Amino acid sequence: MLSGKNVLLAITGSIAAYKSAYLVRDFIKRGANVKVIITEAALQFVTPVTLSTLSKNPVYKDFLKSTDTGEWNNHVELASWSDIMVIAPATANTLSNLVSGKGDSLFLATYLSCNAPIFVAPAMDLDMFKNESTQNNIKILKNRKLNIIEPKSGELASGLDGKGRMEEPEQITTIINQYFLDKASLRNLRILISAGPTYESIDPVRFIGNHSSGKMGFALAREAEKRGANVELITGPVSLETPRNVQRTDVSSANEMKKEIEDRFINTDVLIMSAAVSDFQPVKMAPNKIKKDELEMSVSLKKTPDILKDLAKIKKKQIVIGFALETESEKKNAYEKMKKKNLDAIVLNSLNDKGSGFGFDTNKITLITPLEERKFDLKSKDLVAVDILNFIEECI
Ligand SMILES: Cc1cc2nc3c(=O)[nH]c(=O)nc-3n(C[C@H](O)[C@H](O)[C@H](O)COP(=O)(O)O)c2cc1C
Repeated sequence: MLSGKNVLLAITGSIAAYKSAYLVRDFIKRGANVKVIITEAALQFVTPVTLSTLSKNPVYKDFLKSTDTGEWNNHVELASWSDIMVIAPATANTLSNLVSGKGDSLFLATYLSCNAPIFVAPAMDLDMFKNESTQNNIKILKNRKLNIIEPKSGELASGLDGKGRMEEPEQITTIINQYFLDKASLRNLRILISAGPTYESIDPVRFIGNHSSGKMGFALAREAEKRGANVELITGPVSLETPRNVQRTDVSSANEMKKEIEDRFINTDVLIMSAAVSDFQPVKMAPNKIKKDELEMSVSLKKTPDILKDLAKIKKKQIVIGFALETESEKKNAYEKMKKKNLDAIVLNSLNDKGSGFGFDTNKITLITPLEERKFDLKSKDLVAVDILNFIEECI
């Protein structure tokens, strides 16, 4: 769940700061992007070079980067970059500052600006931890919905034995991973998505295809993965990067796409057919390149298999969503397609809407179900994917 997440790690002045290097490494191992903010006191315990090397990002400490140029580190930008803020180790002093709302350092100003979930891992000697002020501060922070990662009991740096040791880095990342897992609205859901065009070969070098870029299907795969679903993507020929944690299978023709989808359909909870599958294919593919010097040339076509219609026959509990890209009588055609193919919903987009359809980064859709129609404004395909996945969440 941490893969691709932006983790802002704040390190404060506890002896446990040396463990933060392991923490950075563990977040990176899990695929997260890490930026480190450090307090003045923490510099006594770890060096920025270690942390910048491990995190592959500069370490942030002061507001001002250069007095000559006036360049400064923007606490608001850092806060909004983060998907999560982790304060580990958190000193007694820092707990007090968090409670009081002080903002006199880059770290504290960033904390005050941060709307992401915040995790705090206190680390201190047992009596500092037991102290009423510290305990009150922790109580207040818990009431403010901060996630406190309780310290462990054991031998402390002072040589004393008791509660105050920062939780181990691996355990911290496991706790945070579990937090995201619990929040993942589509966890354990198996979603199969088709994307892109299909190419129907005329001869070894020519084909019948369409202008589909695959962007909508890939945006859907990214959004479904973000919500914790197990996502499989069957894609026609496109030049797009595979979304993280998504199982991708490349196909070329409608027949290949049909096979891959049918093989998986039984073990799928949701199928989203956003691919622009060709409606026709040559009756026969010429074994060799057709020569240019032939005076006339015609290609006999037959219909490609209707993937959705065939799946409708074996459909059980799956939610099946189709796409319709129309140029005329849009709604009428979409309703007919939904009925004929036994779909739970159809996403209609019209080539008559500016910025909608093939190739664009934007889309304007109407989501049609047998019970209702939902019209959406023109927006980025990433945000269209959010609307469609929200709908799926309602369905399940
Ligand atoms: C060697 C040494 C170890 C320290 N370890 C801790 C600690 O584990 N926990 C803590 O709360 N303070 C510890 N302190 C005190 C903090 O460094 C001090 O309160 C500092 O002001 C914290 O600043 P910060 O919260 O802005 O990082 C230690 C100080 C020294 C000199």
